[in-house]
Amino acid sequence: MTAPLVEVADLSRRFDVSPPWVTRVLQRRPRRILRALDGVNFTIAPQRTLGLVGESGCGKSTLARCLAGLMPPSSGEMRYEGRPIDLASRRDPRARRAIQMIFQDPYASLNPRWTVAQSVGDPLLAFGLAQSRAEMRAQVAELLVAAGLNPDDGAKYPHQFSGGQRQRIAVARALASRPAFLICDEPTSALDVSVQAAVLNLMRRLQRDHGLTYLFISHNLTVIEHMADEVGVMYLGHLVELQAKSALFVAPKHPYTRLLIETVPSLDTLGRASAPLKGEVPSPLDPPTGCAFHPRCPHANARCRRERPLPTPLPGGGSVACHAIAEGRL
Ligand SMILES: Nc1ncnc2c1ncn2[C@@H]1O[C@H](COP(=O)(O)OP(=O)(O)OP(=O)(O)O)[C@@H](O)[C@H]1O
Ligand code: SF4
Ligand SMILES: [Mg+2]
Repeated sequence: MTAPLVEVADLSRRFDVSPPWVTRVLQRRPRRILRALDGVNFTIAPQRTLGLVGESGCGKSTLARCLAGLMPPSSGEMRYEGRPIDLASRRDPRARRAIQMIFQDPYASLNPRWTVAQSVGDPLLAFGLAQSRAEMRAQVAELLVAAGLNPDDGAKYPHQFSGGQRQRIAVARALASRPAFLICDEPTSALDVSVQAAVLNLMRRLQRDHGLTYLFISHNLTVIEHMADEVGVMYLGHLVELQAKSALFVAPKHPYTRLLIETVPSLDTLGRASAPLKGEVPSPLDPPTGCAFHPRCPHANARCRRERPLPTPLPGGGSVACHAIAEGRL
């Protein structure tokens, strides 16, 4: 079996969202801790795509930011090629270069005052990947073409492009540092439906051409089905199901995954958002006891309300965290 490129073990991230100290003392209010991620485990094999799906606020971006080294986790381990991803690895240029992130809003990675050539060329300079100005210009042109743009586009500024083209520039910039692992956080969610498919197909082609490994985040199951090899389903900071895409879409196990798949109007239409699920997502500040999904789950019983289910391995690979499945009720 191939060794995983990325390993995440028991990863948790809490945010202290307490009111200011004075308010707490005067109004006798307690500290408030928000658990955005709680005990998340997964691995990603080289050149594979793990798709992460879940409703708004379930912790997808927090996980992405921790893995990209943009935010430290509260506890747990993250490894890349067997080495820890931590503050020290963010200071190591080789490790920093290998892991890149693409955001929902391409403006997050593009300086509006820089030309496209400056933005795309910046990582080449920073990591010493181009030895001369001429070499840099040639590499920038090559990257722009790979991302489906024109080499002349390098002279323009980000505001002169459409949303889809700006995301292509962000992709070219991410590729400039010759990464092996790309963390893509809703990279096409802000784009028109017609443009989404083109950018997704570009990303798949680049993955093949460059042997990239992806963590691909989307709230849209149709996009996840298009992109992923394995799929992780998140609910209120927990990874409730992890399975190969082929198994998950044919035989979803967790009641939440089943509900998600049932409410997708059609899996053949890229870009169509899932219909909103019945029931409110509880606040991560005040999560339900036991299984966080129990208030919305048709299979919940007294044990579900009391005891948190832990992920258990599935016979065909992957895992699921549900008492009803462990007890054979489902
Ligand atoms: N810096 C922060 N301080 C306090 N709370 C935060 C912070 N960042 C995220 N959170 C909270 O953590 C939870 C998870 O947020 P996150 O952005 O990871 O969710 P998400 O799954 O990416 O949602 P979306 O689909 O809307 O992007 C949310 O309740 C959010 O309000
Ligand atoms: S543990 Fe219980 S409440 Fe949670 S998903 Fe399974 S059956 Fe539903
Ligand atoms: Mg997010």
